[in-house]
Amino acid sequence: MNLAEYIEGKRDAHLNELFEFLRIPSVSTQSQHKADVERAARWVSEKLRAAGMEKVEIIPTAMHPLVYGECLHAPGKPTVLFYGHYDVQPAEPLGLWTSPAFEPTVRDANLYARGTADDKGQVHIHFKALESLHNTAGIPINVKVIIEGEEEVGSESLWDFVSHNKQRLKADALIVSDTSMLARGVPSITYGLRGLSYYQIEITGPAQDLHSGVFGGAVPNPLTILCELFAKLHDKNFRVTVPGFYDDVAPLSPAERKALHSLPWKEKDFRKTVGAPGLCGERGYSTIEQVWCRPTLELNGIWGGYIEEGSKTVIPSKAYAKFSTRLVPNQDADKISRLVERHVRKLLPKTVRCKFEVLSTGKPWVAPYTHPFFEVAHKALEKGFGKRAVFIREGGSIPFVTQMHDTFKVPCVLIGFGLPDENAHAPDEHMALENYFGGIKAMADFYQGLAEL
Ligand code: BES
Ligand code: MN
Ligand code: MN
Repeated sequence: MNLAEYIEGKRDAHLNELFEFLRIPSVSTQSQHKADVERAARWVSEKLRAAGMEKVEIIPTAMHPLVYGECLHAPGKPTVLFYGHYDVQPAEPLGLWTSPAFEPTVRDANLYARGTADDKGQVHIHFKALESLHNTAGIPINVKVIIEGEEEVGSESLWDFVSHNKQRLKADALIVSDTSMLARGVPSITYGLRGLSYYQIEITGPAQDLHSGVFGGAVPNPLTILCELFAKLHDKNFRVTVPGFYDDVAPLSPAERKALHSLPWKEKDFRKTVGAPGLCGERGYSTIEQVWCRPTLELNGIWGGYIEEGSKTVIPSKAYAKFSTRLVPNQDADKISRLVERHVRKLLPKTVRCKFEVLSTGKPWVAPYTHPFFEVAHKALEKGFGKRAVFIREGGSIPFVTQMHDTFKVPCVLIGFGLPDENAHAPDEHMALENYFGGIKAMADFYQGLAEL
């Protein structure tokens, strides 16, 4: 049986197997899911074996296990490292899901469940592409696979593993499917991601909570002070006010700007996905530039004081916030963290104390797409989706991509099968079935094409 027939004949089997993967609630950030995370790692290891990988290993780490496998029987042919993650974001708020987050459900030609687009569905595309090759003509190149369980919490253990196992992971290219297509029907290759530094602050005013009637008017309220702080971190043009924040930002070349603005990207679709009454962003830049090429500072969560039923007249002792900066080339994550901390401390009045923590950092990444591997990917996508692929940047972050790129200086080929409106990290996450099935065909073709280089 040839490859295409094989893949076509396995549609139902492939989808049912993906359901199994999606039913495992491998939420990496919640300790009550530790056993589920481990179950997902075992599931991944079994499927890697079925895909023809050898020396499959579940590698324990300080947090969640890594799964590694390899198939190195094509001397003289390229070696690629495929990377993905089996962990998922929390499904909360559960009440906002139309069907339960860990019960995969097909509706309107989409598959709904946490992890469909980010990243189990995309990982499964590659597993099934490799398995299809393995069960027909054979895997024609050398493949290494590493799937981690900590991507959604910063990939720290993975980085530790890479630095101690460079020889084992060495490859001619990194292959990743953990990004999005520009739009439905537009196959896309991503050549740039933003970096991310994540912060948490704790503001303390009074030594304990106080009666707001007895003390209000004469004491600092840490919640008010926190709100004032965040109101000052952007100016009226939506620029971040941290001194030096933009100093190292690499300007867009006129050629790149032109290329990005000629992409089939529709502001109307973006507005619809966002669903807010209006948009706002750094003045002087287009929406595409704002989300792909400009650094930002975002408040991610803020809490403190009384938030339960009814009212409670209190001046809280403490207020908290989680916030983050998205970084672009050539910003340095550590330098930016220092600048942000210094500015935050400067803006806060002497009436409160501040504990400032950097929870994680990840560098930005942009790279040329001139290597012949990109040509092979382009052709495979065109064949699989019947349309020419576009080269895009994206605003999200995948710390491992930068780490690999810095360590091995190899091309990183990011082929996304998600769509921007598929609710990654949100309720009703889903993936279009056409992209799942199209992805398997295109990636099998891609791996075959790499053998012909
Ligand atoms: N798959 C995403 C990253 C992504 C999303 C890239 C969309 C391009 C387009 C990944 O799982 C993710 O969510 N990364 C986190 C960073 C991580 C350090 C928590 C992110 O971007 O917030
Ligand atoms: Mn992801
Ligand atoms: Mn994610």
